[in-house]
Amino acid sequence: MNPKGTNPVKDKKKTAKDYASYFQTTYQPPSLKDAKKRGKEEIKIVKDFVIEEELRTIGKGKKFYIRTYGCQMNEHDTEIMAGILGDMGYDPTTDMMEADLILLNTCAIRENAENKVFGELGHLKPLKVDKPDLLIGVCGCMSQEESVVNKLLKTYQQVDMIFGTHNIHRLPQIVKEAYLSKERVVEVWSKEGDIVENLPRVRKGNIQGWVNIMYGCDKFCTYCIVPYTRGKERSRRPEDIIEEVRHLARNGYQEVTLLGQNVNAYGKDFEDMTYGLGDLMDEIRKIDIPRIRFTTSHPRDFDDHLIEVLAKGGNLVEHIHLPVQHGNSEILKLMARKYTREHYLELVGKIKKAIPNAALTTDIIVGFPNETEEQFEETLSLVKEVEYDAAYTFIYSPREGTPAAKMADNVPMEVKKERLQRLNSVLNDISLRKNQAYLDTVVEVLVEGESKKKPDVLSGHTASNKVVNFKGPKHLIGKIVKVHINDAKTWTLSGDLIEEKAGVLEG
Ligand code: 5AD
Ligand code: SF4
Repeated sequence: MNPKGTNPVKDKKKTAKDYASYFQTTYQPPSLKDAKKRGKEEIKIVKDFVIEEELRTIGKGKKFYIRTYGCQMNEHDTEIMAGILGDMGYDPTTDMMEADLILLNTCAIRENAENKVFGELGHLKPLKVDKPDLLIGVCGCMSQEESVVNKLLKTYQQVDMIFGTHNIHRLPQIVKEAYLSKERVVEVWSKEGDIVENLPRVRKGNIQGWVNIMYGCDKFCTYCIVPYTRGKERSRRPEDIIEEVRHLARNGYQEVTLLGQNVNAYGKDFEDMTYGLGDLMDEIRKIDIPRIRFTTSHPRDFDDHLIEVLAKGGNLVEHIHLPVQHGNSEILKLMARKYTREHYLELVGKIKKAIPNAALTTDIIVGFPNETEEQFEETLSLVKEVEYDAAYTFIYSPREGTPAAKMADNVPMEVKKERLQRLNSVLNDISLRKNQAYLDTVVEVLVEGESKKKPDVLSGHTASNKVVNFKGPKHLIGKIVKVHINDAKTWTLSGDLIEEKAGVLEG
């Protein structure tokens, strides 16, 4: 069993190097130092992904369960892993208790995201007692962190496999290794890998689809772990993206969301052409699919050409998620956002002028190191000035290895919480007011399913990303319908379906 003497997992004094020699064949740990490097090497595009014959039946008669934490990028990676496992003979299950293979696709963005995963792993431990052959894997952003991998190896014996964001296409080999060697398999590439084009995927639903347009992030905002966990910016070729969107359109999908950590940097890594997000959107809007979204934008690279293309409307939705993070220029500088409050407001002005009905949403962090009351109030005043439709708000959480983690985390937790509350209250007032403007209007809603709370109510989104609830027959799921809005709350709108009969609207 043990190729190199004592088992370092049981020895608290052992370091990553000791693990490396112990897990001779299967141990490839992450390194934040390597993940920081941005080399000039060309990214290879691999189009011949295949699962070897012998691995195509490894999961026959077995079931898998994947729990996803974090962003849409992770949700989409889960779809790919589900596709790979399906091609290995596994069936999906929604009941974790009956799974033979459990994967936790993790998020590292804030400490509480990580704590949820450690908590879940604790719950999984007893399952191993009843089912010794159960395989448990940890993947996603947390696996890219050295400290997490060491902690998992030392204290979470129930974990059989740890693999990272750059090598999910290696899942068949990793699972095989875990079954055959019965050793814990650690394979995390710190340097970003190739772009693998033809991975299988099982999409969640057939109404909305995610399409990656680029991977990684080179922005290195000082608080953020993503550039380390997701590697350098790598754009997919436009023809591959367009083909994937066309494929979804042909299969009846109603909405596509183009994904990337920093989509406005799309194409900057192409050496053979000058081609950006504006050019890509201008091509994609010609595809016959009702709605095209994109996320996430960085204000710094949001150029005039993109605004010009978005203003063409059509299937390019009038919703822009434009994270501001803070309203004070000094804090923005400490965050290395590379824009000022004035520059951000100027950009918002340009967007509003070109797309007057644009719904703007954002991300905001409170309690960043050194944030004073006056500086925080500048966030409040910016929020009032922009009038966001909605926002994701966060308390700053130091991430080991990032530049901000070296600054003193000097805003007391009570102050952080109090600022978050004040911010949310200002945002909620604006959201409610903005939603009330929809009263007595007719909106187009993409019906996504039954409302979570009331099964006789259908739920969907407007192009501007407002949630709308209304009563209607289930066969409307997947269709775009008209709804007359008669109630507006902070988070949701509700109204009455307008039945369409032979082209005539009936209220
Ligand atoms: N602490 C708090 N919030 C963070 N975000 C990213 N890193 C941190 C951190 N260390 C937030 C940012 C980002 C969103 C996805 O998460 O607002 O836009
Ligand atoms: Fe993180 Fe900044 Fe990159 Fe967004 S742009 S993923 S906040 S480093």
